[in-house]
Amino acid sequence: GRPWQESETNKPLNDDYQILKMPLNAGDLDMTRIPRHIAIIMDGNGRWATERGLDRTFGHKEGVETVRRITTACSRLGVKFLTLYTFSTENWNRPAYEIEAIMNLVLNFFEMELFTDNNVRFRMVGDFSRLSESVQKKIRYMEDLTSKYDGLTLVVALSYSSKQELTNVARQIAQEVKDGKLAVEDITEQTINDHLWTNYMPDPELLIRTGGELRISNYLLWQIAYSELYFCDTFWPDFSEEHLRQAIANYQGRQRRFGKTEAQVEGEASPLNDNK
Ligand code: IPE
Ligand code: IPE
Ligand code: MG
Repeated sequence: GRPWQESETNKPLNDDYQILKMPLNAGDLDMTRIPRHIAIIMDGNGRWATERGLDRTFGHKEGVETVRRITTACSRLGVKFLTLYTFSTENWNRPAYEIEAIMNLVLNFFEMELFTDNNVRFRMVGDFSRLSESVQKKIRYMEDLTSKYDGLTLVVALSYSSKQELTNVARQIAQEVKDGKLAVEDITEQTINDHLWTNYMPDPELLIRTGGELRISNYLLWQIAYSELYFCDTFWPDFSEEHLRQAIANYQGRQRRFGKTEAQVEGEASPLNDNK
């Protein structure tokens, strides 16, 4: 058998496990309502380091540990997609030494145990062509190597901008129309979805931003149309499994109405309602 099938990390959480692992303030999680897709804007690395009198790059280094922690936690919880905003198109405007430090951390991030032990598949979204050859190679290599794992898909958004993604979609669709492969009347929301870099995943149910800023910074604009948003002040290097559980518990306490009324949604949830 494959190693992860027996692995402790992949077992459903039974009651004993929850009692052992459940932090006091994280709330009870409903294991039947874990988001399939969690998107995270990992912010606050620089400030975390500056507060300690360290160079900003130490914050990024520490942030990598958080990525490992949160990836493992999401895998255990049964999350299917975790999309991490790692480097935006706008981040190319940072000082060269900081960009280099971040890219080196990306290169050194890949220890196979994270993927094999947790049954994690790796993917990237973003403008691949702007990355250095060594980063490109590493990413393709890791995507290939982990393609058979079918637990959590860890998606790293690198050189990513949502407006750029949508601009590419417009260009591709226009080209297909021009080539006579697609009729204008046949363009639907699904056509847009199919052309996005994220076309193989469901939209995120939950978007988390750490670091205290209340903005989206050009991340997954189309995909988060109906996501639940969760902002916390914790800097990314300090973000723990407990914080993640708090975010999920908070999400589970909300009613997703998708334009309907509260009563309609409650009616749908009831087994007595045959008016679906
Ligand atoms: C997020 O942390 C990581 C990247 C954008 C690469 P920041 O580097 O933006 O940290 P702050 O916001 O300056 O604290
Ligand atoms: C957003 O963080 C991008 C990532 C987390 C990679 P920033 O810290 O760059 O965002 P802004 O520019 O402050 O909004
Ligand atoms: Mg920031």
